[in-house]
Amino acid sequence: MSMMLDKLHQEHINITKLIDVLEKQINSYQENGSINLQLIRDISDYIIHYPDLYHHPKEDLVFELLRHKDKQIEPVINRLLNDHKILYESATSLSRELNRLKDSSNAEILVKQLKNYIALSRSHMDVEEAILFPRAKELLTENDWQQVETGFNYVEDPVFGKVIYKQYENILNSIIDDETG
Ligand SMILES: [Fe+2]
Ligand SMILES: [Fe+2]
Repeated sequence: MSMMLDKLHQEHINITKLIDVLEKQINSYQENGSINLQLIRDISDYIIHYPDLYHHPKEDLVFELLRHKDKQIEPVINRLLNDHKILYESATSLSRELNRLKDSSNAEILVKQLKNYIALSRSHMDVEEAILFPRAKELLTENDWQQVETGFNYVEDPVFGKVIYKQYENILNSIIDDETG
């Protein structure tokens, strides 16, 4: 498998961990009204500053290269490209709602937005993993992958990379809590 495809797949695993943390927060709010707004702020900030800036644009390039090689897959590609826009808009409106909320007493709108975000993000990654990545693996050449690779400056992931940004340490702790308990 191309190294780029490996990396995109690993990023899906990472995003899934964050989505699981968000889902736990929703459950906690629905069970006992408690929700960690700061943790959700950190995660949405990360999503806007890493996956939205580096994961989706890399995929966009893969999709564009694939579009020319497999006409049948075009509707799927168009859906996924559109999802990227909606996911970005949803993450920014999440962040607006988080700025508006002073405490957790009135988090209904936030919880609704989170639920929609989680559902779209999961179904989006499922389609990429089930349809797009296998086709890309099959049809893209070394040259194509090189093109995707050189289209981007390498940027280390601030949560899942080698150096964890101080502002995101809580996110990582919450994932570790999630995995150990
Ligand atoms: Fe995507
Ligand atoms: Fe993706």
